[in-house]
Amino acid sequence: MLFDTHAHLEDQKFKGDEVEVIKRAREKGVSLILNVGYNLLHAQKSIALADKYDFIYSSVGLHPHDAKDGDKYLWDELYKLARHPKVVALGEMGLDYYWDNSPRNVQRDVFRHQIGMAKDLQLPIIIHDRDAHQDVLTIVKEERAFEVGGVFHAYSGSWEMAKEVLNLGFYISIGGPVTFKNARKILEVVEKAPLTSLLIETDCPYLTPHPYRGKRNEPGFVKLVAEKIAEIKKITYEEVATVTRENGMKIFGIS
Ligand code: NI
Repeated sequence: MLFDTHAHLEDQKFKGDEVEVIKRAREKGVSLILNVGYNLLHAQKSIALADKYDFIYSSVGLHPHDAKDGDKYLWDELYKLARHPKVVALGEMGLDYYWDNSPRNVQRDVFRHQIGMAKDLQLPIIIHDRDAHQDVLTIVKEERAFEVGGVFHAYSGSWEMAKEVLNLGFYISIGGPVTFKNARKILEVVEKAPLTSLLIETDCPYLTPHPYRGKRNEPGFVKLVAEKIAEIKKITYEEVATVTRENGMKIFGIS
């Protein structure tokens, strides 16, 4: 039984075959999916999807790419959406210094703002961190985000940083890149981090695992991530599937 804790099934790339994609995921053993909203439109679409399937949950938030769109109207609307019963987290939020689609100071302000919202709403957060490790950690500490906790999604940092993340009580989510032939740092993180602190995800349609790299990703492929973790940690696939699913249910309050 697998929990894909980070999917974007509302994406255009699933238009037309969403039903088949979800069916294939169920056949691979995926029993829970957290679909992640990253701006107002996608948060609305994501909740609509969660309304349609009992095993799909949703988050709402503003991605660092869209941070420049964070005005009062948007925050009021996101706040309302966050109260929907299937919304179990806020995000994705964070910093992306690779693409720099919004000015960095705006990204930082918007990240801080959403941590405040999460504390208000008592929801865990989903953090997107690309090439911004130090600033993400600083903000998480200064804003006391550990009071609500959450996950560093598609984790790409070092083991050194992972130790800090784990000390703050956050989960580390592992995606397709762990299966890549050129994977290095992430293998050490998976080997050394306790299984009780790991989640698994696809981030579909992105980050497709080997051997499908280059094709569209989908929730059923999260099985490949779980199998790779089992291989690295020298434990069974069943243990990885069971424990990461329990971890996800715990942090996102799903019973
Ligand atoms: Ni994502």
